[in-house]
Amino acid sequence: MSVLSGKKIVLGVSGGIAAYKSASLVRLFIKAGAHVQVIMTPASKDFVTPLTLSTLSKNPVYSSFFDKDEENGVWNNHVDLALWADYIIIAPATANTMSKMVNGNCDNLLIAIYLSAKCPVYIAPAMDLDMYKHPSTISNFEAFAKYGNIIIPAESGELASGLSGEGRMAEPENIISFLEKDIEGKLPLRGKKILITAGPTYEAIDPVRFIGNHSSGKMGFDIAEAAANMGAEVILVSGPTHLKAKNQLIKIVRVTSAEEMYFACHEYFNNCNVAIAAAAVADYKPKNIALQKIKKTENTFNIELEKTKDILASLGEIKKNQFLIGFALETENEIENAKLKIQKKNLDLIVLNSLNDEGAGFGKPTNKVTFIDKHFNIEAQDLKSKEDVAIDIVNKIISYYA
Ligand code: CTP
Repeated sequence: MSVLSGKKIVLGVSGGIAAYKSASLVRLFIKAGAHVQVIMTPASKDFVTPLTLSTLSKNPVYSSFFDKDEENGVWNNHVDLALWADYIIIAPATANTMSKMVNGNCDNLLIAIYLSAKCPVYIAPAMDLDMYKHPSTISNFEAFAKYGNIIIPAESGELASGLSGEGRMAEPENIISFLEKDIEGKLPLRGKKILITAGPTYEAIDPVRFIGNHSSGKMGFDIAEAAANMGAEVILVSGPTHLKAKNQLIKIVRVTSAEEMYFACHEYFNNCNVAIAAAAVADYKPKNIALQKIKKTENTFNIELEKTKDILASLGEIKKNQFLIGFALETENEIENAKLKIQKKNLDLIVLNSLNDEGAGFGKPTNKVTFIDKHFNIEAQDLKSKEDVAIDIVNKIISYYA
């Protein structure tokens, strides 16, 4: 999966012959799973039509502050558009547009968006070779570097003028791979390995029966996706679930019982920087597993249970520098019980779920959690989707390493 998947891209197109390549660029962004909002300078519409780019981007294209064709008038709010974007890419960026960007000469919607942006801005210049080497262009590049904008270098080859040299806008495929590499290289959890447990465990009674629970595994899988989206390499040790991982940085190790989960975690833990125990591990398992299916003979039937190994506590015992996060599911004295678990299991952070909170718990798409760290700082969160709770947990890890 591309790192651009799900990202919101403002693609600024300015008026040079390379604007015809922006159609392929839009297609490649869409193929990578990005949401694209095209902004055209008025001059670029002589080179490629807004209809082409709106069809390919599946979005209306904007090029002025005010939509004259709309009966009641619609203001294309440059601030909203700038804040919507995760990334702004200006391709092609002509000498004229670059000069306006550097000087803050805000005479069109694209420049207004650029000036209002808080996200990373990438610029793919396109011009003739002598323009590309002109001292004013070079000083504009220096200015962009100072502003923190990133230049996607032009390529060498035949130019529209008939001359040959440096100045051709980078090919759309190369722009996409430049962006992917640059964005991946800057992800805050790049180089970090994270072990996550997820799902229920099944403890066998006989060859056909088991003791299990209703955990869907969603919380652990969402944390895995959120961590991988931030560049972490994830080992996801999961009990039985139908869920699949999307991000290629996630390696799933499928297990069935608490015992298997324990051994899988201990195989990977030493090489990990962070471990998060989101699994609903069975606390007890049948002491003896019947080799054959148990027949229904007696009116009552007892199964002797014994404790499973506490995986999280065992990781807490051997941890060195790992940042260790546990979950606590409580029904009473929530905060006090969670604090005890932090100490008992040697945790850095606990994510407390209370079953008293509506919308929290097994099988639900939402969760309401409270973070408690090892210094007993308490942070209660609102009811959120499990995806958003996962992002909050990953942000805790990011701020620990910041
Ligand atoms: N956990 C674990 N191994 C177990 C049991 C629990 O790794 N055998 C982990 C869970 O994944 C969770 C945390 O321990 O991160 C707390 O689980 P919870 O069920 O709330 O607490 P327990 O320690 O099992 O205690 P109790 O059930 O008595 O509240």
